[in-house]
Amino acid sequence: MKKTLIILSALAVLCACNTGQKETGVRVVEDFNFGWKFTLGDSPEFEYTAEELAAYQAEQDAAWAIQRQALIDQQKKQIEQRRRAMGAAGRRPQANNPFAMQMTIREPERPRNANPTHFTESAQAQWAAPGFNDASWRSLHLPHDWAIEGVFSQDAPSGTGSGALPGGIGWYRKHFTTPSADRVFVEFDGVFMNSTVYVNGKPVGTRPYGYSSFSYDITDCLNPAGEDNVIAVRCDNADQPNSRWYAGCGIYRNVRLVSVANQHVAYSGTFVTTPEITASAGKVNIETTIDNCADQVKAVVTHTVIDGKGKKVSSVSDDVVLEKGRNVANTSLSVKTPALWSIESPNLYTVRTEISVDGTTVDDYDTVFGFRTIEWDPMKGVFLNGKAVKMLGVCLHHDMGCIGSAVHYRALEREIGILKEMGCNAIRTSHNPPTPELLEICDKMGLLVMDEAFDMWRKRKTTFDYSRFFDEWHVADLQDFVRRDRNHPSIIMWSIANEIGEQGDSVDDNLQNLSLAEANLLLNFVDHTNPDGPFENNPNVLLTRHMAQLVRDVDPTRFVSAGCNGVGPTNNLFRSGALDAYGFNYHPQGYDQCLEYFPGKRMFGSETASAISSRGEYMMPSSSKEKHPSRVFGEDPNPTHQCSGYDSWSVPWGNLHEEAWIPVRDRDFIAGTFIWTGFDYLGEPTPYGWPSRSSYFGIVDLAGFPKDVYWMYQSEWTDKTVLHLFPHWNWNEGDKVDVWAYYNNADEVELFLNGKSLGKKSKTSDVLHAEWLEVPYEPGKIEVVSYKDGKVVAKDARETAGDPVSVRLTPDRKTISADGYDLCYVTAELVDKNGNAVPDNGTMLRFEVSGNGELFGVDNGNAADSLSLKGDRKALFNGKALAVIRSVKDAPGSVKLTVTSDYGKTELVVKSK
Ligand code: GAL
Repeated sequence: MKKTLIILSALAVLCACNTGQKETGVRVVEDFNFGWKFTLGDSPEFEYTAEELAAYQAEQDAAWAIQRQALIDQQKKQIEQRRRAMGAAGRRPQANNPFAMQMTIREPERPRNANPTHFTESAQAQWAAPGFNDASWRSLHLPHDWAIEGVFSQDAPSGTGSGALPGGIGWYRKHFTTPSADRVFVEFDGVFMNSTVYVNGKPVGTRPYGYSSFSYDITDCLNPAGEDNVIAVRCDNADQPNSRWYAGCGIYRNVRLVSVANQHVAYSGTFVTTPEITASAGKVNIETTIDNCADQVKAVVTHTVIDGKGKKVSSVSDDVVLEKGRNVANTSLSVKTPALWSIESPNLYTVRTEISVDGTTVDDYDTVFGFRTIEWDPMKGVFLNGKAVKMLGVCLHHDMGCIGSAVHYRALEREIGILKEMGCNAIRTSHNPPTPELLEICDKMGLLVMDEAFDMWRKRKTTFDYSRFFDEWHVADLQDFVRRDRNHPSIIMWSIANEIGEQGDSVDDNLQNLSLAEANLLLNFVDHTNPDGPFENNPNVLLTRHMAQLVRDVDPTRFVSAGCNGVGPTNNLFRSGALDAYGFNYHPQGYDQCLEYFPGKRMFGSETASAISSRGEYMMPSSSKEKHPSRVFGEDPNPTHQCSGYDSWSVPWGNLHEEAWIPVRDRDFIAGTFIWTGFDYLGEPTPYGWPSRSSYFGIVDLAGFPKDVYWMYQSEWTDKTVLHLFPHWNWNEGDKVDVWAYYNNADEVELFLNGKSLGKKSKTSDVLHAEWLEVPYEPGKIEVVSYKDGKVVAKDARETAGDPVSVRLTPDRKTISADGYDLCYVTAELVDKNGNAVPDNGTMLRFEVSGNGELFGVDNGNAADSLSLKGDRKALFNGKALAVIRSVKDAPGSVKLTVTSDYGKTELVVKSK
């Protein structure tokens, strides 16, 4: 179909145009991850004047004064809450009661460290200069995270809260040849944090927020085509703490060099929507932002839709006039009998956009999209393509365990694969923009996404967090994020915030306390159609409306939401009226009341559970439900620094897994749940302090080994037949052991100890497991059998393992790609002479990789293990350890892993192709 001239809106934004005589051609996207040099620290010439240092110190003192006061206020509030909870005066707090805690105000501890972040000309001149000799720097390829390579330390300025690993400053440099193209861009998916990019010594841009993706036009800094250039990147993550979890350091996401002609699709330059879908046809609207870095020109823009099998199924061509600068073109086409994107069948299509000038194609650009409809009925929940779907979700932080935050596609694919297998159908990218590959994987595997932008706005949570950049950067960070992600069919809602301070008010929130500029900004978002509204001059309400509007300006098609912990009507985010969906963090006992508070509103559990457990640790009695306070109360609930692996411990503000799931299961108006968290993550080791350095919240541990509760979810969330028995059966004579089983598709389950029945049990609608308490231990075998209508459905057993004789190595895949990115995950276990895994052994293992691969990480899922995740040693934790092998680019062949321990040597060979 060829249409006639369409009208383009030429915007005022002009690109930095170089109309030099360079050969034009089709877009070339180059992997820019290889060939980098890296060093920690800053240039030795990076010195400060006395005034600079004094100014910096004053800035830090001021920041600390605010933070200190906030911490004191928080303590006051908590003490007050405790007093109230203790009821009548004089009642003594009880042991194991979360309120039996601190009752007087303690002086908050000022965080250590923090280097000046000012950047002097001399440092720039030296380390960003093309002629600088970086031969002594380390050679590596991206994505790279230098923090994970560091040692865990109690003294790390980030604290255990963000993983007890280093921050600091790091520099990267790379030589590259100028491509033959009109315009050259460098695209970064994310640099943590405060990055400044230089090309041939010239600064081309700075981006504070470490989770934002960005692109720089570097054409004007380049030497002529074919000549050498140097790109240098300085990352500054020295001011600590700045995060409530582990963030990582450096160029931890992918980088590309993109060469285009003068007329090209802009970065994140397409917006593909599917406003009308029937069985016979799907309408596709395509908005394309085209930059023209030359004079006005006539062009033809062709969009071709390609289905999942590579077949062209529809196309449209429009004659356009491209003004110099930015142009926006809108068009539409129709696809016959579109295959819908769904959780079960995630069908994807691609729009290939081509721009041609004088009959020559000058740019091509692909956008992946899907046909699907999303409706959300406040009382009935979410409907995907007209079919009711409960969001069975988990929250995920972005690190990938022992490889840190360095993005590797396979690590993400494994993580999402393990969760999908559990029955999970939704991911919340808590609490920041994810790497684009995560969304690609959710598109491909069929998971719904709540895509989140921020953990704080203007009110800080840690001393040096994003709040210091918010005023200057929130518009760009929020809108760039939505623009980047808005074509993914997996994303069904945006989240503008998680538990931000602006939910409530404080004395600082009076409008008169704001600067003129701040007040103007907010007042511009007053709803003038309702000037007498009761909240019109509350800055936090106005700010919420402003943030939601920023999102809707870029994507009006998805729900705008937020994770909120004030599950009540006084929450400013709810009062703003700006949210399409109300996300409740915890407090399921408040769900029913929310029907009265928020009639007709869409609601869901944006964060649930926060149960805490360690894989393979069983603390008895399993029936004692324990609420353990966070480390800020200064009490470690157990000297082992482990939590019980039965579903019996949670934080005071959270719930056990069963307690959190049942209220969501039973209410259609609670459209879904996002459990805190799918996987354990580095940082936030609640309820412990050092040496704990990673979380206990995961359904799956940090190494990717599922904890027992994984099978509770699988039994509830899938139709697959599940029967999972625990704990292991290696105890001491005389022990009394609580035995649990998760199951489904059956009426009852029977437990046998050495062939003798210990009775049949059934779960109920309120207790989602079967249990046999205080079973007297005798070595041998416990077996559980499930029955439906008297017939055996499934069996599961645990046998007492004998003395260990050797290490068994099991790879997740036997062949990986020789691309320098692919990973092989190898599980190590000790086995007895019959091949039974020994479950309670902590033997130290030494890992060595030879041949065409490298040892890329080791782990065991123990949150309190302070040995490096990048070293060559790891002890088994409750019988398991993990080694991750990474392939070497262009080096196909065999990779050998050798594991040495007290039980000899075991070798495993995998192929890299
Ligand atoms: C929530 C918060 C999460 C995490 C969690 C731990 O309140 O949103 O980021 O801190 O608590 O229970």
